[in-house]
Amino acid sequence: MSSKAVFDDLLQEEREFPPSPEFAAAAVVSDKAIYDRAAKDPVAFWEEMAKELEWFAPWKEVMSWTPPDVKWFTGGKLNLTHNCLDRHLKTATRNKAALIWEGENFETRTMTYQQLHTEVCKFANAIRSLGVAKGDRVAIYMPMMIEAVVAMLACARIGAIHSIVFGGFSPESLSDRINDAEAKLLITADGGWRRGNVLRLKDEADKALAKCTCIENVVVVKRPLGEPFPCHIKEGRDHWYHRLMADASPDCPPETMDAEDPLYILYTSGTTGKPKGIVHTTGGYSVGTYATTKYVFDLKPEDVYWCTADVGWVTGHSYIVYGPLQCGATNLIFEGAPNWPENDRFWEMVARHRVNVFYTAPTAIRAFMKWGDDLPAKHDLSSLRLLGSVGEPINPEAWMWYHEHIGGGTCPIVDTWWQTETGGIMITTLPGVCTAKPGYAGLPFPGIQATILNEAGEEVTGGTGLLAITHPWPSMLRTIWGDHDRYVSTYFSKWDKSVYFPGDGAKRDAKGNFMILGRVDDVLNVSGHRIGTMEVESALVDHPAVAEAAVIGKKHDIKGQSIVAFVTLKGGATRSEKTESDLKQHVVEKIGAIARPEAIIIGGDLPKTRSGKIMRRLLRDIVEGRTASDTTTLADPSVFEEIREMYEEKFKS
Ligand code: PRX
Repeated sequence: MSSKAVFDDLLQEEREFPPSPEFAAAAVVSDKAIYDRAAKDPVAFWEEMAKELEWFAPWKEVMSWTPPDVKWFTGGKLNLTHNCLDRHLKTATRNKAALIWEGENFETRTMTYQQLHTEVCKFANAIRSLGVAKGDRVAIYMPMMIEAVVAMLACARIGAIHSIVFGGFSPESLSDRINDAEAKLLITADGGWRRGNVLRLKDEADKALAKCTCIENVVVVKRPLGEPFPCHIKEGRDHWYHRLMADASPDCPPETMDAEDPLYILYTSGTTGKPKGIVHTTGGYSVGTYATTKYVFDLKPEDVYWCTADVGWVTGHSYIVYGPLQCGATNLIFEGAPNWPENDRFWEMVARHRVNVFYTAPTAIRAFMKWGDDLPAKHDLSSLRLLGSVGEPINPEAWMWYHEHIGGGTCPIVDTWWQTETGGIMITTLPGVCTAKPGYAGLPFPGIQATILNEAGEEVTGGTGLLAITHPWPSMLRTIWGDHDRYVSTYFSKWDKSVYFPGDGAKRDAKGNFMILGRVDDVLNVSGHRIGTMEVESALVDHPAVAEAAVIGKKHDIKGQSIVAFVTLKGGATRSEKTESDLKQHVVEKIGAIARPEAIIIGGDLPKTRSGKIMRRLLRDIVEGRTASDTTTLADPSVFEEIREMYEEKFKS
């Protein structure tokens, strides 16, 4: 193995899972020729997809590219809400459920496309009456409720740029994001339920508002079912949603948007530094989310589709709201958590709503593994026909568990690699035509050109390297709000400025399937071998006792770095010195002595972001004896302290 390789190639995976003949025969994409066709002319492919949507005026040019800047569908005019709503009012989709909401306390509400259209038009008029116009920024800080979707679409209807801040973020994170975008309106709610507790969002928002001078008005949604949560209403500034709606007209023609007009800003913190306001535009994002939803999720008109993300993340933007609504899908949206009131809440819901397509994150899948096989087994999951994964690499054993225990051994799994910045899915399998391999995301989506480069920018054919996207795609970010230089330096300065650098390591198999090896920032360097976190973590998760693992490099005088692993065990497994030595041995057997962890810390949980990603940076702080660099994005700070104590205890002895 060359020490110049960006990542060493450690994990071998040969299991293959083609779709069943029945699935393939009924699939939206049933001919692999789509890949060749799109590869020959990606711009023509995207144009073909764009033609499936309705435009108020056609584009003059499909793409114009002055690296690193790109424009798609130049001169084209549209409104994304027209494609999400109005377009369906002419068909039978009109009376179909657009959204089925379930609250934590099992309440449900259903809204058809027609009803959603009316609600959005009324709210668009309401926010217009508060002085919001095209190009203004609107911050949204809400729990998972139908009104969060209405708020997004109402902004898009009038051309205001929404900036959603996940409801679990602190007042400080909210005020930073409001101030950076100079939002003039905040839409929030009195509160919501989370694991049996009330999340008093308006109270949190009030703390943030004390630090914001740009906000002129606040709209407060009263949680429609159950007891309202008391909150403070500031006269003149704060307005109840239901009062505004009572007087609002349902007549609101969509604003004519240029294809390149901004649609939204979404802040992403990345691993370090000030959050970046990722800017997505209207035309390209519409086309990208529409095409990927249609082809990857294989949606049929009768499907119930459930993406378990929150609208506060890009997955919620693209694959709860904009993609599925453009496709006329029925979306299940859920306020609560997978483990409330019991650890089988998701499976109970899948059975009760007869969910057909289910999209979740590896962090959730690993939690389900930990909670035990008996929980999904208690429920009838036979309605499921397609499963998806997003957010982190899915370790092969987690993939196998998902396949067997949730997918009944038959559902294809789409492991979708993408980012807030890419707007839509970039690498995955098209479920009717591709053979899936656990741990491999699959092929670049048609029209996406991805490769693997080394540091010098040379293509890596057989081994590991840095993932690179070599051609623009419609749903890509256009800039970072207020900081175009940072856009150029973060994404287009690694190599040639026409090549997008996502910051992930990857390798490819002989058929061109990509495996994502983890963030380049997290790479380990042991005796000159660059080891991706995904492979060592997957070797640990492969052990029957392990639910979840995170590995990091610890400074080592001789090797440069040694590996420290933080692990959580499945229910029933016990923490002991024997378990630790078994796990070390298991890694040696799966990967080789090079990857043997020097220490294994077995704890109750791992530090994660609120979207469920493991924060290896904080584990590095522990190992290097630093105070935690930035814990504001941490979901549960007590987990971090617990692990620190365990680590210190271990290294004392
Ligand atoms: O490292 C990759 C990982 O998540 C990053 C993007 O995170 P974010 O912008 O929060 O978007 C998450 C939802 C799209 C990527 O750079 N990632 C995401 N999906 C996968 C993944 N890593 C491996 N496999 C995936 N399927």
